[in-house]
Amino acid sequence: MYVCICKGITEQDIKNSVVEGAASVRDLYRELALGSQCGKCVSFAQQVLGNELAKCAFYDAAAVA
Ligand code: FES
Repeated sequence: MYVCICKGITEQDIKNSVVEGAASVRDLYRELALGSQCGKCVSFAQQVLGNELAKCAFYDAAAVA
């Protein structure tokens, strides 16, 4: 599913960026130029990013336990 229509960025692109270390919308802006045109995608991108970071925290915690 597309998150940013202007730049053609999908949820998978955001997931890949999180795996590579992105932890904020600012990181997504730097790496993918997400939100650099109309900015309407930023709110949804924050949700997607938050979900992915929560998954990473869960898997990190499970790996330690
Ligand atoms: S939809 Fe992302 S900048 Fe326009």
